[in-house]
Amino acid sequence: MGEFDGKVVFITGIARGQGRNHALRFAREGASIIGVDIARPVSKYISYEQATEDDFHETVRLVEEAGGKILARIADVRDSDALRAVVDEGVAQFGRLDVVVANAGICSWNRFWEMPDDQFEELIDINLTGVFKTLKAATPAMIEAGNGGSIILVSSVAGLKAMPGQINYAAAKFGLVGMTQTAAKELGEYRIRVNSIHPYGVNTPMGTDPGALQMFEKYPHWLPNFAPILTEKPIADPDDTSDAVLFLAGDRAKTITGSQMALDQGNSKV
Ligand SMILES: NC(=O)c1ccc[n+]([C@@H]2O[C@H](COP(=O)([O-])OP(=O)(O)OC[C@H]3O[C@@H](n4cnc5c(N)ncnc54)[C@H](O)[C@@H]3O)[C@@H](O)[C@H]2O)c1
Repeated sequence: MGEFDGKVVFITGIARGQGRNHALRFAREGASIIGVDIARPVSKYISYEQATEDDFHETVRLVEEAGGKILARIADVRDSDALRAVVDEGVAQFGRLDVVVANAGICSWNRFWEMPDDQFEELIDINLTGVFKTLKAATPAMIEAGNGGSIILVSSVAGLKAMPGQINYAAAKFGLVGMTQTAAKELGEYRIRVNSIHPYGVNTPMGTDPGALQMFEKYPHWLPNFAPILTEKPIADPDDTSDAVLFLAGDRAKTITGSQMALDQGNSKV
């Protein structure tokens, strides 16, 4: 018996990293997965390696190898029609929708007065507006099913405390807090809970971005902003984030909505 037997989970950004891990963890607990990823380079401003179609297919293989069911489509979270089509197809195939994990995102660095407009705008389009479009595409199916449910928005410690070099990322991730609280208030009557998580560094290609190190070399006085309270494990594993996501998705979190869960090794308090 799995904790999510018979449940259906929609996850964005499944090709690799945390999104892939969430898909695997839910599948191991019996859930069917609806997943999307753009699965190609999205931005010239990103300084870490970007996900590929091979990564996307590897996620599907891993989920199926674990005995899970997955409907995966290549789609961009900036495309409402594509998201709605995937959700419709998934609900037609699996019969319902219970959990949404709005996880897809990008990260890029610059001092704000040196940041080209399109660097700012594309990150907002993906990390903020893309989450709005994800929620808009998925929520009607949850309301219609009438089973309640849980929505998790993947923000960041940078959505609780701003970091230098990331005005685009901070604006989007703080914006998700407002989105979480609004959606929680509107969806409470349907027994759908909405919460955000706020990880610090996580061991994925984004979390080990060489661009971050270049910024620290250039601006070493920025480093104290990034200090954690817990120093034993400087970077979390995707499983650490999945632990929080599965907790918020499940019945043990039945009293929690509109909240911001800091998975930040204490960094937002430093
Ligand atoms: N890694 C960290 O240190 C860290 C810390 C805090 C928060 N986060 C957040 O966690 C989430 C997952 O990041 P990750 O660490 O797994 O990074 P990642 O780069 O490994 O994975 C992100 C995935 O999102 C996909 N994606 C990007 N733009 C997309 C778009 N427009 N449409 C559809 N898919 C798109 C990518 O192709 C990729 O597969 C992001 O929202 C990120 O901001 C990451």
